[in-house]
Amino acid sequence: MSSKNIPTPHIEAKQGDFAPTVIMPGDPQRAEFIAKTYLTDARLVNNVRGICGYTGYYKGKRVSVMASGMGQPSMGIYSYELFAFYDVKNIIRVGTCGAMDKDLHARDIVIGMGACTNGNYAAQYNLPGTYCPIADFNLVKKAVEACDKMGLKYKVGNILSSDMFYDDASSALEWTKMGVLAVEMESAALYCNAARLGKSALCICTVSDSFVYPQENTTSEERRSAFTKMMEVALEIA
Ligand code: HPA
Repeated sequence: MSSKNIPTPHIEAKQGDFAPTVIMPGDPQRAEFIAKTYLTDARLVNNVRGICGYTGYYKGKRVSVMASGMGQPSMGIYSYELFAFYDVKNIIRVGTCGAMDKDLHARDIVIGMGACTNGNYAAQYNLPGTYCPIADFNLVKKAVEACDKMGLKYKVGNILSSDMFYDDASSALEWTKMGVLAVEMESAALYCNAARLGKSALCICTVSDSFVYPQENTTSEERRSAFTKMMEVALEIA
């Protein structure tokens, strides 16, 4: 789209500041961690509202990382502006999820092939039915290949993008009767924006907590190294 939209209400970067692929954690500090740990020549290209975005190089390939914030409205804003106004082609979300599937344990990886939601994001498209937000097949395939190569434990399938972290009805587990693996809060909006704008998206999550095994405790150090693996998967496929 045209550069007259740049800068956007939420991103101050200039045209061309973002690489074709943006890795998106929810947390700005994690975006900074990825940039400083993995990228060479990382340059801060956005810091509006503390949603920091960096562009640098990973193994010689230009790549960006920017936070999405929490929840579908926030992910909806940032992914839309990156796709529509900054010519970004791929967004790979790296986040945490609550596992609902009994085969998943803390630190495992979930690749979100589809994202169910209790939210209303897709209502804007006025479709005569229920839209099914899905990841880009190529990105799913590459993530699976990277996980296999790195020897990581993962599952591929449907996730739930919930609008509630604190859910009065504790309704997330209902989705397990349809085989939904885990709950997070952003992917359905990301997949909708990618579909609407003809772009590609994927969500890779690390299990931070489990509804099935609430007693499973991981130290923050253990979790950090698991998150690091997920970031490496995302960077490998970028
Ligand atoms: N709910 C929603 N999002 C999450 C959770 C959860 O239990 N755990 C990590 N992200």
